[in-house]
Amino acid sequence: MEYKVFSVILVAFFVAAFAVSVYDEEDLEDNEIDEYGHRKGKILFPFVSIVRFANTECSSANTMNGTCLARRECNNLNGTIAGTCASRRGRCCIVSRTCGSTTNVNNTYFTSPGYPAAYAGGAACSIIVNRCNSNICQLRIDFLDMVIAQPDGDGNCVTDSVSVTGGNTIVPLICGDNTGQTIFVDFNGDTAITITITATLASTFSRRWNLRLVQLGCDCPGVAPNGCLQYYTGTTGTITSFNYGTAANQALSASLVTGTRQIANLDYGICIRMEAGYCGIQYAQTANDIYSFTVTGDVEGADNTVLGTTVGAVNGASCVTDFVVIPNPTVVATGASAGTDRFCGIGFVTVQSGAKPFVLYVVTDANEGATATTPPDVANRGFSLTYTQVAC
Ligand SMILES: *[C@@H]1O[C@H](CO)[C@@H](O)[C@H](O)[C@H]1NC(C)=O
Ligand SMILES: *[C@@H]1O[C@H](CO)[C@@H](O)[C@H](O)[C@H]1NC(C)=O
Ligand SMILES: *[C@@H]1O[C@H](CO)[C@@H](O)[C@H](O)[C@H]1NC(C)=O
Repeated sequence: MEYKVFSVILVAFFVAAFAVSVYDEEDLEDNEIDEYGHRKGKILFPFVSIVRFANTECSSANTMNGTCLARRECNNLNGTIAGTCASRRGRCCIVSRTCGSTTNVNNTYFTSPGYPAAYAGGAACSIIVNRCNSNICQLRIDFLDMVIAQPDGDGNCVTDSVSVTGGNTIVPLICGDNTGQTIFVDFNGDTAITITITATLASTFSRRWNLRLVQLGCDCPGVAPNGCLQYYTGTTGTITSFNYGTAANQALSASLVTGTRQIANLDYGICIRMEAGYCGIQYAQTANDIYSFTVTGDVEGADNTVLGTTVGAVNGASCVTDFVVIPNPTVVATGASAGTDRFCGIGFVTVQSGAKPFVLYVVTDANEGATATTPPDVANRGFSLTYTQVAC
């Protein structure tokens, strides 16, 4: 009788929302139940007392965090139980899905088949993400681990790619190494967002991915302003372009010189939250990395007196193919206006901007390889810029 009351209420909560769970005897661990099926020891929760616990994030021993749920809820979601939470009343439930799945569960992990083992590739691998409730505005995709094939030598994602469709944010086709990147995609009303990873069958390449799909409520403090593909918070941080890395792409460009890591056809905004008490923002090349601003030009033909230095910096009207836009900046070293908002080349001069909101735009054209254009692009890596907010 007591059990029925519990069950009815449990079902009612399960249907209503996942925000809280109700603890029942089913959640006891086996060693806490006697041979007659009753809880051992004194009765902590007597007749009709209901114990609820919040469905908060819980950490587990492996690479994925779970949500604290009742055991039954986790089983209904086909989740994996990875320990207890909420003073052992709940179960840390991990929902992990791979190719050909649909989810409406917050914090679903989307992995390559057999993750973390290498995936040889095959047919396109998709997950369809539906909102978990009508108050969800945005999907945050955390690339916890993302190693797929590099672009061809001209920056096009032809072997492997990630595409995100159905949302209200334009997401460029990306590929290569993107571990640690995060993107924000606005939901378009009730329309599902589909993430598709194309991984061309090639058994020798060790590719893998593990994406966390976080559903953000419209009023959630972590929501990015509409349309910002990336969003950084905190007074300092490092922003890298997609597939940024110091090692050269192994592929050659169409004109048979070392290929690029920089992805072609980009056109997106990176927003940085203006923190309380801060009015400006500085951008500098990330220290101790000569490749940290190699956006146009010949990386291999330049020596260390040019590569990664102010000598290698190009700006203004000379930046027409691939460039970064920073609104109305001043040169930090001189305090004088930079006289431009476009930056390219193989070096970067530290600048500061007071234009609000804090946004940095990234533009690349359709060809990142060496072409007849002057100067030719050879072995570009993209950029790694460190930002520092400036107090008012
Ligand atoms: C989803 O989980 C994240 C991280 O635990 C949390 O910040 C967010 O509020 C959750 N979304 C909903 C709708 O509960
Ligand atoms: C798991 O949660 C902990 C604590 O909230 C956090 O520090 C960690 O980054 C999370 N890890 C993953 C893989 O989400
Ligand atoms: C759980 O798995 C069963 C059997 O494969 C399937 O019928 C059901 O739809 C799955 N439920 C969820 C929430 O994925």
